[in-house]
Amino acid sequence: MKDGRSVLIRPVELSDAGAYLAMERDLHRTGQGVVLDVDELPETAEAQADDLESAVISEKSVCYRVKYVALVDGALVGNADIKRHRWRRLRHQARVSIGVHPDYQERGIGRLLMDRLLGWAFEGPGTTYGGIRRIELGVFEGNTRALRLYESLGFEEEGRSRLFLRHEDGSFETDISMALLREPGI
Ligand SMILES: CC(C)(COP(=O)(O)OP(=O)(O)OC[C@H]1O[C@@H](n2cnc3c(N)ncnc32)[C@H](O)[C@@H]1OP(=O)(O)O)[C@@H](O)C(=O)NCCC(=O)NCCS
Repeated sequence: MKDGRSVLIRPVELSDAGAYLAMERDLHRTGQGVVLDVDELPETAEAQADDLESAVISEKSVCYRVKYVALVDGALVGNADIKRHRWRRLRHQARVSIGVHPDYQERGIGRLLMDRLLGWAFEGPGTTYGGIRRIELGVFEGNTRALRLYESLGFEEEGRSRLFLRHEDGSFETDISMALLREPGI
């Protein structure tokens, strides 16, 4: 991290479910950059484990999906997911999402996680089937930190979905669709 402490980034395991859920709860309590309310998350570690099952690497999923977790001093403090289309004509496309625990934001973990996802896509299992050529994501207009991170990695805005998310106070949030493209030959 920027403060010199080491971060371990590895694929998620089912045994992470309890720590993963605790991190998600803390992140969702802030309401920043997230869609779900805390009470819409899985209710128990067992339910979270069921949700995580499809994200755990298996022989069938190895070229289609990975979810990384970031650990600092053994604590699970971030996660990042990349999911590739399974249809043959769409499997050059993937979608990413990422979240860092509120106490660990702005220390370089988000960038490390994004680097790992892009490594997976462009140098790892994503190079199968002709490679991943398009990575998409959605980010709220007001989420400057995330926007800066994605722009610095080459993501470009493609469009805006207005009235995308409704806050409890009745205000709305616009969602920006971004994509990172790797044209064949580049
Ligand atoms: C967005 C998020 C993933 C970024 O992760 P992070 O660990 O906080 O970010 P990092 O410390 O790795 O910083 C990455 C980049 O973000 C940008 N950034 C960080 N802090 C910033 C700030 N206060 N203002 C503007 N940009 C900022 C910078 O470009 C920075 O790059 P650099 O410092 O290496 O030049 C994290 O803050 C988060 O989980 N936020 C809440 C949930 C969320 O918004 N998820 C994304 C939904 S699209």
